[in-house]
Amino acid sequence: AHQWQGVLREYADRLDVTEATPVVTLGEGGTPLIPARRLSERTGAEVYVKYEGMNPTGSFKDRGMTMAISKAVEHGAKAVICASTGNTSASAAAYATHAGITAAVLVPEGKIAMGKLSQAVAHDAQLLQVQGNFDDCLDIARDLAANYPVHLVNSVNNDRIEGQKTAAFEVVDVLGDAPDFHFLPVGNAGNYTAYSRGYREDVAAGRSTRMPRMFGFQAAGSAPIVSGEVVRHPDTIASAIRIGNPASWQYALEARDETDGYFGAITDEGILAAHRILSAEVGVFVEPASAIGVAGLLERADAGVVPQGAKVVITVTGHGLKDPQWALRTEDGGEVAPTSVPVDTKSVAEVLGLVGPA
Ligand code: F0G
Repeated sequence: AHQWQGVLREYADRLDVTEATPVVTLGEGGTPLIPARRLSERTGAEVYVKYEGMNPTGSFKDRGMTMAISKAVEHGAKAVICASTGNTSASAAAYATHAGITAAVLVPEGKIAMGKLSQAVAHDAQLLQVQGNFDDCLDIARDLAANYPVHLVNSVNNDRIEGQKTAAFEVVDVLGDAPDFHFLPVGNAGNYTAYSRGYREDVAAGRSTRMPRMFGFQAAGSAPIVSGEVVRHPDTIASAIRIGNPASWQYALEARDETDGYFGAITDEGILAAHRILSAEVGVFVEPASAIGVAGLLERADAGVVPQGAKVVITVTGHGLKDPQWALRTEDGGEVAPTSVPVDTKSVAEVLGLVGPA
């Protein structure tokens, strides 16, 4: 039986992978592109959700990390470092340990989701909580890589972008052409840059006829690309994208202009509303940051920008189990309390509404 071989082997002809490259893979990529019927009904578009939470460590970072760690090992690296809001550190830790090298990860203290912190610790990373924000962590990681024997695996490393572009290849492989629109969350803008590159290469190779319009969304409290200014104290419940000075800012603006794209900002309330729609209408559980593309689609559809019948792909970037607490909040900020029942079938049936009261 065929088993998906991971993105380096599946797309070996489109990546800088040679005989000399030791392929470090956990089987990433090949994620589902799910037709989202109820989102299609809401918007009149033909909507698909690319579920990147299905990657080995639960986020799209694995596509870039298989490439970055493989190339690091090819170049003789014994240790890698990254700054992270959580998912990159989880992925770096898993791929480094699989390769038998060390991962050091810098995360903003108290600002990353428990699931992600647990992953980095479980996979044996040297985890340091920096008393600052993500942008501070990235500054230190870059400094360390420039001055010490440690290899940087943040998305400023081009190998990361190369690996992540495979997600666009998969979309085109499944749909037979690029969609009309691609919606996704934006933090450092590495993934926006990577999808743009993948779609661009597909056009150049004759695998697709056009690039999609690239629509990226930032949290309203952390929206430097939207405002055009660095945000010193970024704030949002979507901790994955709490970033004030995106590393790939310039690439992202170029790709926006090239594709007639767009950057928008979404409030935390909008993010949580989209999170509920993904959970309760599509059946896809994501972390808050990952829901922002859905919020973006609803907002742009309302604004009349998305024509009826347009093909829309939304990347949802990370698994809901990484940061599950948000599902247990009600719309007005209360706590969801599951109903307690006695050990009695008839009572349970009544509570479930299966029978009328006796
Ligand atoms: N969604 C999730 C779940 C993320 O973890 C990230 C970035 C993004 C979206 C944004 O992607 O940075 O390429 O624009 N997380 C990084 C990390 C910063 O450290 O895990 P981007």
